[in-house]
Amino acid sequence: MADKPTKGLADVVAASTALSDIDGTAGRLSYRGYDIHELAGHATFEEVAHLLQRGTLPTRRQLADYGAELAEGRTLGALVESDISELAGKQGPMEALRTLVSLAAADDPDKDSNAADANRRKAARLTAQQPVLVARYHAARTGADIPAPDPELSTAANFLLQITGRRPERREVEIFDTCLVLHADHTMNASTFAARVCAATLSDMHSAIVAAVGTLKGPLHGGANEQVMRTLEALDPRGVAQAVRDKLAAGEKIMGFGHRVYKTEDPRATHLRRMSQELAEASGDDTYYRMSREMEEVVFADKHLYPNVDFYAATVYHYLGIPTDLFTPVFSVSRMSGWTAHVIEQHADNRLIRPDSEYIGERDQKWVPIDER
Ligand code: ACO
Repeated sequence: MADKPTKGLADVVAASTALSDIDGTAGRLSYRGYDIHELAGHATFEEVAHLLQRGTLPTRRQLADYGAELAEGRTLGALVESDISELAGKQGPMEALRTLVSLAAADDPDKDSNAADANRRKAARLTAQQPVLVARYHAARTGADIPAPDPELSTAANFLLQITGRRPERREVEIFDTCLVLHADHTMNASTFAARVCAATLSDMHSAIVAAVGTLKGPLHGGANEQVMRTLEALDPRGVAQAVRDKLAAGEKIMGFGHRVYKTEDPRATHLRRMSQELAEASGDDTYYRMSREMEEVVFADKHLYPNVDFYAATVYHYLGIPTDLFTPVFSVSRMSGWTAHVIEQHADNRLIRPDSEYIGERDQKWVPIDER
């Protein structure tokens, strides 16, 4: 008989990884041994993606080569090009992205190979393509004519350019780039675990990423950032504290708070709070930032819960002019770097992931013919 399961696999070590590490008690996160506080504000997203997917912080030469690979990867395949408009009219952003990643597999020149070099190329292509898919999806549903990606610009700058239709300010790019750095990887979170389970059957990189996108979508995971903004929009700025207390008293969860692993402040939230404040002040209307601070105080006082990565990401994206329903897609833009690195890592030392279950159903049932049921 199997052991009792740990609900939600809490505290179960499900994989070995050299990609990221969390100390939930100290509130520390690192990517390949680099503390997130070292990387945020110093490393670019491209450097971090290279670190995760290729093992090291790149030299200038490696970064130029990787940048060229990303620039090339921003060209969408024929199948995606022909279907994106129709999908935009029929599916929400995360569903459409899930479908588009799957469609993109058909156009990928490495689609038939799981070899390490093919996976490395696919990882770069998927990382390059994801922000373009989000922007093109948004353009298709709004009918906007958006600029093509500029090969001279970074992932962050290109995304803001394509979403807002204007060349972003330097500080906006820096802030968004830091957001991408902060979201790049996070140990065995639900979507990464889903990707690894899929990859461990020796299925292909795109299939694993489709599983990850579908998993990120849920409001208990990546979907929370959108829900945070919806909550802020629905609250009366003059009655935030009481409204949050009422929600908590009614047993409602407040999106953007709590974490399975962190028992203290999520180190990513520290940066996001600061950036949210900066953007709020620069915008001339800091209402949502002030409401967020008030929510944070009440949730901490009532439940001793800290904001997670999704809480202040919501207002940062809002102040950057990103539409609310694209917040979770933006998460996927960054996390693509981590997901793909995990698929590479899983394939490099694979064993099928197949846990056991505890049976809690009926036993020794006797067959009953259909007319006697
Ligand atoms: N608001 C109010 N209460 C909460 C919250 C919250 N956001 N989060 C946890 N709690 C309470 C639960 O109600 C529960 O209380 P109880 O023991 O009295 O029933 C207790 O804290 C434990 O919560 P669980 O949901 O069992 O904790 P778990 O580790 O399974 O979940 C999770 C972690 C999913 C993040 C949870 O805190 C949550 O639902 N938060 C809101 C959604 C969210 O922000 N998700 C994004 C997480 S970060 C990310 O995935 C990128």
